Order: sequence, then C-alpha cells, then structure tokens
Amino acid sequence: MAEPQTTLLILGASGDLTSRLLLPALGQLLTLEPSRRIRLRGAGIDHWDDARWQQVVRDAFASGGFADAFDAIAETTYQRADITDPRDLAKLMADPGDRLALYFAVPPAVAAAACTALADVAIPEGAVLALEKPFGVDEASARQLNATVARLVPEEQIFRVDHFLGRSTTLNLLGVRFANRVFAPVWSAQHIESVVVRYDETLGLEGRAGYYDRAGALVDMIQSHLLQVMAVLAMEPPTTLHERDLRDATAAVLRATRVWGDDAATASRRARYTAGTVGDRELPAYVDEPGVDPTRATETLAELTCEVRNERWGGVPFTLRSGKALAGKDGEVVVTFKPVNHVPEGLTGDAPGSVLRFSLGPDRMDLELNVNGGEDPFELERARLEADLGAGALKAYGEVLSGILDADAALAVRGDAAEESWRIVDPVLAAWRAGEVPLEEYPAGSLGPEEWPKLP
Ligand code: BG6
Repeated sequence: MAEPQTTLLILGASGDLTSRLLLPALGQLLTLEPSRRIRLRGAGIDHWDDARWQQVVRDAFASGGFADAFDAIAETTYQRADITDPRDLAKLMADPGDRLALYFAVPPAVAAAACTALADVAIPEGAVLALEKPFGVDEASARQLNATVARLVPEEQIFRVDHFLGRSTTLNLLGVRFANRVFAPVWSAQHIESVVVRYDETLGLEGRAGYYDRAGALVDMIQSHLLQVMAVLAMEPPTTLHERDLRDATAAVLRATRVWGDDAATASRRARYTAGTVGDRELPAYVDEPGVDPTRATETLAELTCEVRNERWGGVPFTLRSGKALAGKDGEVVVTFKPVNHVPEGLTGDAPGSVLRFSLGPDRMDLELNVNGGEDPFELERARLEADLGAGALKAYGEVLSGILDADAALAVRGDAAEESWRIVDPVLAAWRAGEVPLEEYPAGSLGPEEWPKLP
C-alpha cells in the first residue's frame, strides 16, 4: 500500500525558523526516507509567489546538503495569508490530502492568536498541530494556550516541539539505562549523588534579540530542553516507548520536581556576558548587541538546581545549566555516583564516586572508574571507559519532524508537562525580577563567572 500523502502546511513560511531549521530537517528526512509522500504548502505574511518559496526550499535543502530532496516533494506552493484570520486559515486547509500537519513556525503570540482563530475553522479529521517553544510565557499562559488548543484537536494530535527530545543522546539514555543490569538497579538516590545537565554554547546572540532578550537562558533552554532531558533521565521505567507510557513517565518526574530547598533565590544563579573573544570571534557585550534593552536585565547564562521529590530521587541535586558565548561548546549529562561505603585497608589513594557522562553531540559516553591496575597494584587510580555512540541518522529536528508527519507524539511535549515546567521555573523568574539573585557578569569566551562553584 502506498504511504499516505501528508500535507505539511508551514505557517510562517517566510520566517527564519523555517529556512534555518525546519526545511533542512525536512530535506534530510526526505533524503533518508524517500518513500514519504509530502506536499509542502507555505503560508506567510510576505507577498511571495510559488517560485520564490520554491527557491527558499531549494536553498534550505542545499544548505543542509540535501539538494536532491526537492524533487521528492509532490507539490510546493505558497499562499500569502494572515494566519490569525479564520477565512485565510480555512483556505489554507482546503484539500488537506490524506493527512494534514500544521506547523506554526511563528512567534508564540502569533501562534496563540492563530489557534484562537482556528476555533472558527473546520479542521480536517486527524490533523496535527505543531507548536514551537516557548509554549506560553508562564504557567498561567501555558494553561490558557492548552485550553485553546484542546478545543481544536485531541491532545495526541498536538505537538509541542522540543528538539532536545529528538537528540540522539537523549534517546541513548533510554538504552543505556534500561537495557543494562549494571545501571538499572543503581539508578536512584541510594547510589547516585548528583546529576548535572549542562548545555554551554559558544554562540552569542546571533541577531535574535527580538526573541532572546525577552526570554533569556532560563526560559530559552532550561524551562524547555533541559528539564525534558532531566525527565527522561529520571523517569520510572516505562513499559513501552509508546507516547502514552513515555509521556506519563516524564510528566510524573516534572510533577515531582521543585527548586532545591523550595528557595528559588538560593537554588539559582544568573549572569550575562561582557565583551570578549570566543575562539577567533570578537563579541560585543550582550548589552551592546543590536536590539538588546539592558534594563530588561536578561541573563545569558542560567543555573538552576532542582530536586525530584519522590522515593527514587529525594535528596539528589539535579543542576541544569545553559549559557551563551562561553569558552567551548559543552553539552553533557553527568551522573555522579556515591563513593563505596568502605575501601579495604591496604588499597591506597582516593576512591571518589564513579562518573557516567553522556555528551550531547558529538554523541559519546564515558564512565570514570577507580581501578588499581597500574604499576602499584594496591594504589587506586582513575580510568575511563569511552564509547562513541555515533550520531543518529536523523538530526534532532528531523527526528521530531518525522514524529509529526507520522502523527506519533512520543517525542512531543504533552500539555501537562509544559505547564509543569513553567510551574518549576516561575518562582525563579519571580525571584530574579524581585532582585533576590544578583545578575553577575562573565567575559565572552570564558567559562562563566569565576566565583560560581565548578560543576562535576
Ligand atoms: C534553541 C534555542 O531552542 O536551542 C537556542 O532557542 C539554542 O538559543 C539551541 O542555541 C540549541 O540547540 P542546538 O541543537 O541548536 O545546539
């Protein structure tokens, strides 16, 4: 039987997100899975014609190295539309093919307005809606947006996109954790001392002040991506990786999560970069970047420690950190085990807890252990077992997009999880607004403020 034909309708087709992330991901997906039958419909506020849109698609495919994928698309058309107008939306959704996927590649406020407008439009049976992060701006607005979209289609057809759920390392956590008896039974507070999920970037603002200056590192990275990675790491073993089992398990983690000590001020840190050099690039101070309003006091580096308050994890600090314009690109999940209760007398040297590290691209894992295999057989030293996990065939956005086109929501953020992650960070944002946490500084290209305690 032929694959069903999916109409991918991109709202905000003339925007940056579409050409920078979405289209290259589609190009890769069509290259690796040529049997997919896709019609690509772009819609946006700009007065483009089909030819202009087709050129954008071609260029974006070519930029990812997938130029030939263009020919795999059955039809590529563009319609100028006001996506907050029900009449325009109805026209865009006419002739949906076997399946319709609506991708909102627009700022959150526009997506929310479009969802409100959709209430007056007949949405084709089975249509899926894909919404980019941030989903809302706080818990209350996320709740409201959830209520709006819930009136349109069932929850399994709503894809709150978080590309970190499609990262191969996030998925690697599942196999390592659940398919190995050496890890599964020790994955708890009884044996684990701390967990760090960190995503340090060398990139600065990259011209994204319009969005980033209102978001900041906490909302941009921790509220969404890093809390999701933490939830995968900390969830109870699901019976299957079906969306219901997987998302029940990750949502339960977020529901159990509180900021450390219930004190948002002591559980968090924030800083922003001053002028400096990252690699061979000179970066101006964040406050001097075009479009930045210094009075917003936006942080470019955020750190938050949480506790997953349940039987498995009570007492274990989970520290999430992400920042821009740092010395090196460093994304990793670090699980530090507790030291053993007793080292036999006669063995010399330190025996700190073993450390398991997953690097978030390039995908590697390593396990640091105490061994005594060196010159002196009774002296302990550290050894590292390393494995290259290889990159997943699909990049993170491609993985997420493949779920959207297949209407499989396993890697999408569920509505309750989106609300919970705002519930976790809202008190931190409030403490920062109230000036309870100083906004520190670090030179671009450094490791962050020197006074901050070093993470494992
Ligand atoms: C995005 C953030 O969601 O994720 C960016 O908005 C960030 O600020 C990016 O740079 C990081 O993910 P990746 O996969 O591009 O490294």
